[in-house]
Amino acid sequence: MNMVMRSDLDQWWRNAVIYQVYPRSFNDTNGDGLGDLAGIIEKIDYLHELGVDAIWISPFYPSPQADAGYDVADYFDINPEYGSLDEARELISRAHAVGMKVIIDVVPNHSSDQHEWFQEALRAGHDSPERARYIFRHSVGEPPNNWGSMFGGPAWSKVEPLTGREEDRDWWYLHLFAPEQPDFDWNNADVHQLFTDYLRFWCDLGVDGFRVDVAHGLVKADGLPDDLRGSDRWVDGDRDPDVFDSGPMFDQDGVHEIYREWRNVLNEYGRDRMLVAEAWVDPPSRGALYVREEEMSQAFNFDYLKCGWRPARLRTIIDQTLREMNNVGAPVTWVLSNHDVVRHTSRFGFDPEHSTEAGIGLGDPQPDRELGLRRGLAMTLFTFGLPGSVYIYQGEELGLPEVTDMPDDARQDPTWLRTGYQVRGRDGCRVPLPWKANPADTGFGAHPWLPQPADWHEFAAERQEDDPQSVLNFYRAMTARRRHYDLGHGDFEWVAYDNNEVLVVRNGKITLALNMTSEPAVIPGQYSIVIASGTCDHVSGGVELAANTAAWLS
Ligand code: NOJ
Repeated sequence: MNMVMRSDLDQWWRNAVIYQVYPRSFNDTNGDGLGDLAGIIEKIDYLHELGVDAIWISPFYPSPQADAGYDVADYFDINPEYGSLDEARELISRAHAVGMKVIIDVVPNHSSDQHEWFQEALRAGHDSPERARYIFRHSVGEPPNNWGSMFGGPAWSKVEPLTGREEDRDWWYLHLFAPEQPDFDWNNADVHQLFTDYLRFWCDLGVDGFRVDVAHGLVKADGLPDDLRGSDRWVDGDRDPDVFDSGPMFDQDGVHEIYREWRNVLNEYGRDRMLVAEAWVDPPSRGALYVREEEMSQAFNFDYLKCGWRPARLRTIIDQTLREMNNVGAPVTWVLSNHDVVRHTSRFGFDPEHSTEAGIGLGDPQPDRELGLRRGLAMTLFTFGLPGSVYIYQGEELGLPEVTDMPDDARQDPTWLRTGYQVRGRDGCRVPLPWKANPADTGFGAHPWLPQPADWHEFAAERQEDDPQSVLNFYRAMTARRRHYDLGHGDFEWVAYDNNEVLVVRNGKITLALNMTSEPAVIPGQYSIVIASGTCDHVSGGVELAANTAAWLS
């Protein structure tokens, strides 16, 4: 496929390897069980050696942590449990010193209920300018519409009346997520101003980009009509991939005006400052709208993340996303894991039709760990060979599995409580990273904020450091060779193969092969093996790839 490119081809994010830091669980330097900014600073060299071009740091702002920091109480400061603005400055300059960019997480759909604006809104009466910054509606008896919260239960909470007066009763506010996360009203000029101020504040501090939380949610359909898909769609379930309906709260056309406004602000700082959309939208053509030249830079390819170990689906999604992104001159942004989904090393340890969307806990079917890791590394290697940008979720470079046996009483994800203990949620992928091989303390002191499994020290970075066979060293070799062959800027062409479950792709000088069958597969030709995720040998007439294995060949 000939790649259509936008005017400025050399923007760093087009082919970048970007590492997601989930600060609460990344690295703890004071033993309080929570990660901190000093912990990120301490690991800058580790990240640099891993070969990443940029880090994306999930929210680090002051927050009551009702949703692990995605409930922001102050957009212009750092959570004191994590550090200070001075440390944020130091982090950015230390990253820049080794050539790494820094992306931070902007949360514009909602604030914390402890944000001063929401507190003012509660104190002010209805019809006040303070309330106009959020979505308050009047309704007697039932909530104003049937929308469900993504974390379970209704998307509306009732406001305590301020006075005994009739007109103060029966007011509700909208929260697409937890009640502690009231949605902003993006029809309001103050809200626009808050976020343009925010972008300038953090650009002035030196950040290179923003990951935009719930990028598809900021604008709601006029009149807030009922969700005809039903109210209990708390999670993007395993639906028919050809039926597209994001509902009246998501992917409304009006949302794009906001990103045009933001692009203009970022352009004051040059074309290199980037925006990456967290937009769970269908089909890929809708996703492409977010990365038109005058809007954002990247949009996570969640369709790819959701493909599972399904070769036919994978082929279709790769073709669709390359085509759609190419149409608007944007790179594809590949992603397999993040802090909201079961780690891919565990997803691939199930039958491909088995859904893990509700999380995994005690009493649930458990993944095949060995198969999951083997397939996980194979899919990772294949993904890193594709043209575009690619994300790593912290800990995947250690081969961490999802924690699937966490005691339920340790869970912190609001989903668990709000679904009446039906949906375990996302804690299993958020367990603090093991740095040290000491079973009593892998680096988060005696009491990590989420408990680590007893065997967690076996994955410790310290232990993998000098082992040439470790997952950590596999990731290092993979990023180095990706850079060497410039695969991120590369090209894409399917190579015919007589079994559809073996994916073979040509990217410049490299042939990528992914054997998704449970038998060895021979890739015919005279090749050198550049890197493989498992057993891969020269045989007569070609290279033989073991089952569930990928390789780069040249
Ligand atoms: C998406 C974030 O990734 C997720 O962790 C969070 O719960 C929701 N947005 C709400 O902010």
